Amino acid sequence: MDVIRACLAAILWNYVNAFVMSSSEEPYFNKAGFRDCMEQPLLKDGSYNIIHTKMKLESNHIHEVQCAPDHFSGVNTIIAQSSSATVRRGIHLDSETAVVFKEFKSAYAMASARFVRIEECALSAIHHPHIVKHYCTFFNSASEKIVLVLEDIGDWSLFEAINEYPGDEYLFMDLLTQMSVTLQFLHSFGIVHRDIKPENIMLRSSNSFVLIDFGLAVELHLEDSTFCELPGGTLIYLAPELLDVKWKSKFFTPAVDWYSLGVVLYTQMTGQNLIPYDATEENYKKIVDMIRTHSFAMKNIENLNIRNLLRGLVRKDPSSRSSFQQIQQWIAENKHNYKSS
Ligand SMILES: Nc1ncnc2c1ncn2[C@@H]1O[C@H](COP(=O)(O)OP(=O)(O)O)[C@@H](O)[C@H]1O
Ligand SMILES: [Mg+2]
Repeated sequence: MDVIRACLAAILWNYVNAFVMSSSEEPYFNKAGFRDCMEQPLLKDGSYNIIHTKMKLESNHIHEVQCAPDHFSGVNTIIAQSSSATVRRGIHLDSETAVVFKEFKSAYAMASARFVRIEECALSAIHHPHIVKHYCTFFNSASEKIVLVLEDIGDWSLFEAINEYPGDEYLFMDLLTQMSVTLQFLHSFGIVHRDIKPENIMLRSSNSFVLIDFGLAVELHLEDSTFCELPGGTLIYLAPELLDVKWKSKFFTPAVDWYSLGVVLYTQMTGQNLIPYDATEENYKKIVDMIRTHSFAMKNIENLNIRNLLRGLVRKDPSSRSSFQQIQQWIAENKHNYKSS
């Protein structure tokens, strides 16, 4: 865990700044604010309609400043790039807060404004120690792109931690404890993340995980806990019910997140993917068949308690998959064996 600890020092400044920006670490979900945000028209004058145009500063007293590119410096340092966004690091000049800019590729933002909207609305309504903070959103007229301004969590994601410490049972326990509570928090407000994977779980310090990337999140109809739309997410972490070809529409429950968490925890314990094929086009059918029909024995996990827990999380039938309550019971029974380091 020494390298992870070392990363604590490197990101301490970011952490201190992020802490200054938040009044308390008590979790809350501003449901009214979320609903209001989601109900605003998606586009205005043909462009994405930004809702959070101001940045809240919480020092001695709370005040709001306009969220615009000239309030920030260092917008050029690229830290990640994907098909949907470019992520850069910068500083908010007035408050000296380290921030990250998630700039959506314009075509993506226009064609898929809904994905930008859910990320903006959900993150701005949530205040949770294990969920990334959203400060504000602006339109960068130089690049003509939409930019979400987020808390800078640092350089470590679970992806790097797994490469460095595959099989670390203390890391496993911290990850399970924190992410199960975080997912349950989201689910209790009807939000399903749908893209749980190592790259979307970052480390704020040696044992504090932070969930990012709400672009694929959805709000369920709480009455029946199901939602119907095309599946999204990263194939090797997708729950089998999302791939059921017999279903014309895809109905799912929050259990899809528990499945993905099970796959992530398996990778953390073994350093290997649950599905042993590269996610290429040629392997697509093999991967889908395996997710839908293969019974994962997980014999390479020697610890039987952990093996049983993970097998419960990746059950094909969502109604018999391990629930939050079962995970909590498992944690209560096992926490003395795996204390956080
Ligand atoms: N708040 C943040 N702090 C530090 N790094 C971040 C932050 N948000 C994103 N990143 C980095 O950028 C990558 C891509 O961001 P993400 O929100 O997951 O976008 P995408 O939808 O393109 O996957 C992440 O995997 C992470 O490495
Ligand atoms: Mg991502």
